Order: sequence, then C-alpha cells, then structure tokens
Amino acid sequence: MENKILEMQLPMDGVWMPKAASVAVPSVDDPFWLIFWACVITFFLLMAPMVYFIARYKRKTPDQKAESQVDHSQVLEIAWSALPLVFFGVVFYMGFTGYLNLTVPPANAVEVRVTGQKWFWSLDYPQGFTLGGAGETFVMPENTPIKLVMSSKDVLHSFYVPNFRIKQDVIPGRYTTLWFQATEKGEYPIFCTEYCGKDHSMMLGKIKVVSQEEYQKWAQATADAQGGEPTADKGKVVYEKYCKACHTTDGTRLVGPSFKGLAGRQEELTGGTKVEVNKEYLVESIVNPMAKVVNGYPPAMPSFKDSLKTNDIDSVILYIESLK
Ligand code: CUA
Repeated sequence: MENKILEMQLPMDGVWMPKAASVAVPSVDDPFWLIFWACVITFFLLMAPMVYFIARYKRKTPDQKAESQVDHSQVLEIAWSALPLVFFGVVFYMGFTGYLNLTVPPANAVEVRVTGQKWFWSLDYPQGFTLGGAGETFVMPENTPIKLVMSSKDVLHSFYVPNFRIKQDVIPGRYTTLWFQATEKGEYPIFCTEYCGKDHSMMLGKIKVVSQEEYQKWAQATADAQGGEPTADKGKVVYEKYCKACHTTDGTRLVGPSFKGLAGRQEELTGGTKVEVNKEYLVESIVNPMAKVVNGYPPAMPSFKDSLKTNDIDSVILYIESLK
C-alpha cells in the first residue's frame, strides 16, 4: 500500500522507552524508573523471607500446635512505617515537580495553535501559515520552548509525541495546552491516542526538529509558498492530505461520494432537491458541508473552513474538475 503514514517509523527504538528528545523526558522517565526499581527490589525483599518462612515454620508433625508469640520489634515497626513514608515523599516530590514542569510552559514560549479533526492534525504557525493533513511533517526549532494551544473540531482526540513524553486530550469547545522544548534534531511521530472513529489509527503526523536557523528559513519559504496561483497539481496534494480518507477518485464509494466525474453532475440531496455540482456548490460543501448533503450519504463531513486556505480550496476544486 503506498501510504506514507504506514511508512512512518515507530518510536520504539529502545526496549522500554522511545528515544528521548525533549526537556520533559526526566519529568516522566525518572519517576518511572524509580518506581520500577523500587518494585523490583521490594518484590525480592518480600518473596525471599516468605520462601524462607515457609520452610522454617512448616508444621513438622500432624499434631504440632502453633506457638503463642506476643512480643514485637519496635525497630522493625518504625522501619516499615518510616521508610515507605520517605519513599512515597520522594515519589510525590518527583511527581509533583514533574507535573508542574510538564504543564507550565516558560513565559517566552512560542505559541502554536493545534487543531484536531477526523483524522488529521493542523498547526497554525506564528508566521501566519497553516499546515495540516494526514501524515504531515511539522518542522520545529530545537532548543526553543513551544506552547501548543489545542482544540478539536469534532470529537475527542489526544495529541501524543512519545519521544517528547507529552500527551494531552484535544477537546471540542475547549482549549487545552501542552508545551515542549526539543533537545535533539530528528523526526518524531505524533499519534492520536483517543479513539476517534474509523481512521483513528491513521491520525498521524511527524515533528521534524531542525536548528533554529533552518527553521527560520523553512518558515519563510513555507509562508511564501502558500501564496501563488491555484493549480490542479496543488489540489492533488491537498486531496491526498485532507480528502482521501472519505472520497475516492476512481468511483469507489467511501464515507462520501467519489470525486470521479463529480464536477458538472446533477446530485440529489436529502429532501429530494437536485443541485448541479458547480464551483459554488463545491466551495459550499467544503466550508459548510451540512448545508447540502447528498442523498444516501451520512452527514459526516466536518467543515474545512479554517484548515484550508482559499488557495487550497480553489486548487482542490481544479483537481476535482480534472477527474472526468
Ligand atoms: Cu483522533 Cu484518535
């Protein structure tokens, strides 16, 4: 299957934890390893005496009586109360400071808007351009705090970058925040970790961390490239990222009508009225899909008003018109 999402590398390049690539990593990994090793050590501290006691105090003869034992060990009792108290105090301290590190972004953080919708992520960059779509690569500068202000257009999603150890629900009608500061150049996958429908497992993206100079250059070039004339070729790229999950180009029926031979056709809408598929109708169906739903299809399409620029919409319409 030629699907760039499926070609994406998974982050599990270690046995336990994916490669560490952000300043948040110690806040998550340190308490994990502390608790993990405490569990391993405690397991043997409990099991070894238990096995010894089973052998040592086994009833030797059928009529052997249990002996009364009313003394106790003050030292032992203080130890098993005080040591766990100290241990849990340390765990609480690590957990709470880690939680603050993960949730409070530095004041100078660069703000990026994140939008989740079925089934892709879009990011509004501070330079004024928007990137998004299935399997999109989002370039980010290294050693720069980035604050993500996130919301969803439809259902619950969750933004998760395992290499950065950050994860947060993305909710319709509400803003949630997350921040990271990448420490290593490289490419790191973004997952959706809240089951959000048919293509939840395909709701992937990538963060590509580059040097600050490279990032500035890339942002300038991307901002420039989003201008220019709409073309069917640009439209095909937009289609691959935004439309492909629900609309085919070969006449096969998915969630929505196929784009093949769509332009110029008469469509029957729910309620029985007919409409000609012209440019106006296509624009309306992209920005306000619920206005005219084709008979026999579910009213399932979210609005692409904010995720697609006028240029993208014009391009994708040229592409649809090219599919005879
Ligand atoms: Cu979005 Cu799962």
